[in-house]
Amino acid sequence: MTPINKVILNQNTKIKPIWIMRQAGRYLPEFREIRSKNTDFVKLCLNENLASEITLQPLKRFNFDAAIIFSDILMLPHGLGQSIKFIKNFGPSLGELNFKEIQNFDEKIFNKKLEPVYKTINLVKKNNITLNKNTIGFVGAPWTLLVYMINKKSPKLKLKKDFYDDKSLINNLLIILDKFLKIHIKNQIDSGAEIIQIFDSWAGLLENEKLYDYIYNPTLSLVNYVKSLKVPVICFPRGIKNYKDYCENVKPDVICIDYEVDPIKIEKEIKIPVQGGMDPKVLLSDKETLKTETKKYLDIFKDHPYIFNLGHGVLPETDPGMMEYLVKIVKDY
Ligand code: CP3
Repeated sequence: MTPINKVILNQNTKIKPIWIMRQAGRYLPEFREIRSKNTDFVKLCLNENLASEITLQPLKRFNFDAAIIFSDILMLPHGLGQSIKFIKNFGPSLGELNFKEIQNFDEKIFNKKLEPVYKTINLVKKNNITLNKNTIGFVGAPWTLLVYMINKKSPKLKLKKDFYDDKSLINNLLIILDKFLKIHIKNQIDSGAEIIQIFDSWAGLLENEKLYDYIYNPTLSLVNYVKSLKVPVICFPRGIKNYKDYCENVKPDVICIDYEVDPIKIEKEIKIPVQGGMDPKVLLSDKETLKTETKKYLDIFKDHPYIFNLGHGVLPETDPGMMEYLVKIVKDY
């Protein structure tokens, strides 16, 4: 059994596996080299040979316990015909949302458009380097995808007041997202993904009274679906105020925590396996600080099923040497 499965399925507290959100890309020179020659990010995600190579790059350098597929949560709107571009120093920029087109979107066309993502998973699974490691597929949570599809770019600290104006648009989009996210999840699992992580990067932006309608219920529907396929599901509701309440309502197999929450409180309150937590900025400091901070998380979760990860994606300016040291600290613990 893989180390991560031992933690998730057997609730093993003796081993502390490690993988890192956004481990594929950004901070690795070998990624930047490929990226500089492939200026269209969406096309790069849809090139199964390069996408599988990028997925495996971090595993060639570091003893991580999982591969996360090189793709993006915004490939889903792309699959539904909403255009996306990634602009340097700006982030994602989405085209007009054509609701009529999306409402009647043909499943076959969606599958065809995203087929290279599934071929990438196939290629990653076939590579011996992923033996005894997990291959992680992922989706954006319905709420975070709604934010991108309606806002058409990353929100800053708050959503515009008029975001919620068109309630019927939001409610209809949630129904469509539920359908196509399940298709995307199933396709990833059929291609070899052994764990699904649901990224809710903008969970922290939602007002409390809307939690059930826009986060808890829509995410629970996906969690139940993944479980029905006998695959573990990790949820990352970044910035959510009450992780305990989230876990009770959404019932993931593993909860991934951000770096704003107190890990001691999480350890006490939450009984299911926990993942992540450490501030990615710690990797920008010095080795001494990195060791102290890493050990802090390992000590707190010593007797808890725990997968080491960060509290958000690794930052582009991270020195790969610091990543190597982090893996060593966790493996030597
Ligand atoms: O984790 C991995 O290494 C696998 C690949 C992966 C990417 N994006 C590749 C990527 C994953 C799991 C994601 C998830 C994702 N994408 C999230 C959820 C996690 C989070 O960070 O909150 C979100 C919100 C997105 C949307 C997105 N994609 C943004 C906001 C940006 C631009 C800013 C940024 O983070 O670089 C992207 C682009 C993106 N996705 C890059 C990579 C490697 C950088 C592209 C580049 O080189 O320009």
